[in-house]
Amino acid sequence: MTAQLINGVAIGKELREEIKQGVSNLKSSGTTPGLAVILVGENPASKTYVRNKEKSSAEVGIRSEVINLPATVSEKELLDQVEKLNQDDSIHGILVQLPLPEHINEDLVIQKIDPNKDVDGFHPQNVGKMMIGQVAYLPCTPHGIMEMLERTGVEIAGKHVVVIGRSNIVGKPMGQLLLQKDATVTYCHSKTKDLASYTKQADILIVAIGRAKFVTDEHIKEGSVVIDVGMNRDENGKLCGDVDFEKAKEVASAITPVPGGVGPMTITMLLKNTLQSAEIASE
Ligand code: GUN
Repeated sequence: MTAQLINGVAIGKELREEIKQGVSNLKSSGTTPGLAVILVGENPASKTYVRNKEKSSAEVGIRSEVINLPATVSEKELLDQVEKLNQDDSIHGILVQLPLPEHINEDLVIQKIDPNKDVDGFHPQNVGKMMIGQVAYLPCTPHGIMEMLERTGVEIAGKHVVVIGRSNIVGKPMGQLLLQKDATVTYCHSKTKDLASYTKQADILIVAIGRAKFVTDEHIKEGSVVIDVGMNRDENGKLCGDVDFEKAKEVASAITPVPGGVGPMTITMLLKNTLQSAEIASE
């Protein structure tokens, strides 16, 4: 079998057209959605992510503002900056790029963000609402994967989904969102023994472990759907996922590539959350 490619670039583009239209409608009624991104320090990966967020915001008509703070900024100064943005009516979404320098408590900073402007979906209030199925800002990567599965026509109800990874940003919320759509969910992680015995049972396999080409055809059930959240460099410095794509595509029925799979969906969902926040504020 050669798997169908789940194209995150194409699905993301389709969604961004819808977002662009939503932004345009909102602008004609007098509100321009505003996103503030706080970048602390000079982490090169973070700088690239932030630049991409700026560029993508502009493409759909969202006004973005990047606040660069030195790595030596105090926790208090950062919290004060967040509070200033909480009070600013022209800002509908606030994102503090992670990771933060060691002397700053990330949890405190996330909790300082107004939950109504928490477009990352990291605030405990949004996490809690998501857990009990209430309307909340959803974390962008799992939210983007749900959108991809739905737009590809992948059936979720009654399916066995195995999630490899248990981070607060991807693995844990991913399982919860799938559970709410009536999947049977199994979580695996770095301490799971005999990983393949679980993954071989998956109708849908979500891989978010951060290890290049770790999952191979030997972990995958014939005909399953494979979603690869990984973003790594292989031995030749080439971008690759957590799944060995060449091997997996011979077994799976559908699979996301890296690059061009989950990645483009993550920023798209940030734009969608920012639009949603601006729509609510303008009501
Ligand atoms: N660092 C890596 N991914 C993310 C993300 O989705 N949001 C934030 N705020 N920081 C990140």
